[in-house]
Amino acid sequence: MARRRVPRSVFDYVDGAADRERGLARTRAVFENLEFRPRGLRDVSQPDLSVRVLGQRSSLPFAFAPTGFTRMMHHEGERAMARVAATRSIPYALSTLGTTTPEDVAAAAPDARRWFQLYVWKDRARSKDLVQRAKAAGFEALILTIDSAVVGMRRRDVRNGFAMPPALTVRTVLNAARYPRWWINFLTTEPLTFASLQSWNRPLAEIGNTLFDTTMSLDDLAWLRGLWDGPLVVKGVMSLEDVECLTAAGADALVLSTHGGRQLDLSPVPLRLLPQARDLVGDRVELWLDSGITTGADIVAAHALGANLTLLGRAPLYGLMAAGQSGVERAIDILTAETQRQMQLLGVRAITDLEPQHVMLPPQAGSC
Ligand code: GLV
Repeated sequence: MARRRVPRSVFDYVDGAADRERGLARTRAVFENLEFRPRGLRDVSQPDLSVRVLGQRSSLPFAFAPTGFTRMMHHEGERAMARVAATRSIPYALSTLGTTTPEDVAAAAPDARRWFQLYVWKDRARSKDLVQRAKAAGFEALILTIDSAVVGMRRRDVRNGFAMPPALTVRTVLNAARYPRWWINFLTTEPLTFASLQSWNRPLAEIGNTLFDTTMSLDDLAWLRGLWDGPLVVKGVMSLEDVECLTAAGADALVLSTHGGRQLDLSPVPLRLLPQARDLVGDRVELWLDSGITTGADIVAAHALGANLTLLGRAPLYGLMAAGQSGVERAIDILTAETQRQMQLLGVRAITDLEPQHVMLPPQAGSC
């Protein structure tokens, strides 16, 4: 439905990944080719999907990942996502490249558990200001993304001439005839600006490459700690070495993530890294899994292999593009039902009872 409802450049921005998109395909292939090991004759009459995240109970084992430009997918954008987060009692992460301010998200969904994702700007004073605004608006945790020193090469965006905000050119006017509802909403609702910048009508790569601070190093984590006294999460972790040193540096949670395959193509598959990362850190830090999760079976596999939480980026955005807030609700309901059914069929009552032996990863190419 999403594909039919929004212009191609918008759909491709969400659906696409970096370079030849092989990293994303590989990540999906691991989810699709793993094998579950069910047990029978278990009482699964009272399924419990809740998890404890950053010291608080959350009703479902997943949260909304931070996503950029969300009001471009549908004019209800971040507000719709945050409202669904509140009604389904799951956390919502607002991106620095979100298109609704932290204050407006807080006003739209005061009861939602809200987290703020940070890209550090070259202008550090601006980042500091953003962190303080998130704090003042009641955001609970800060998520620092570390996989985006520069922006990955999204070839589909280049081919589509994707610009932010979308502009009416000859090509887009022709395209508008096919998606009138999207264009009417786009042109008649609040103009797109970022949560953290004023409008910037350049491609994503230019925004990131002009504004993101490429000098960031491990020492800067301490700088951030000094600015933020709440939970600090680091997202975009792709090596066991980083798992070890970020745990030692005092992160509260690490997100094993390839940014949905949108940054470094051919990076490690997060699900493969997870069991080793868990062995390495034990219970010293929460490990969350992100990238390529589109079904309840993916969520169950991640929790079995040691994740405390899974993050959903594209999956709810397809719902948002298809039908705004009700589409997001539908996406979350489908994923909840799938997760519960998958657990019950595995003979597991609570998501936290899942164990590595419930899942066998597919052999890695090249191994015998
Ligand atoms: C933004 O974070 C993106 O991946 O496009």
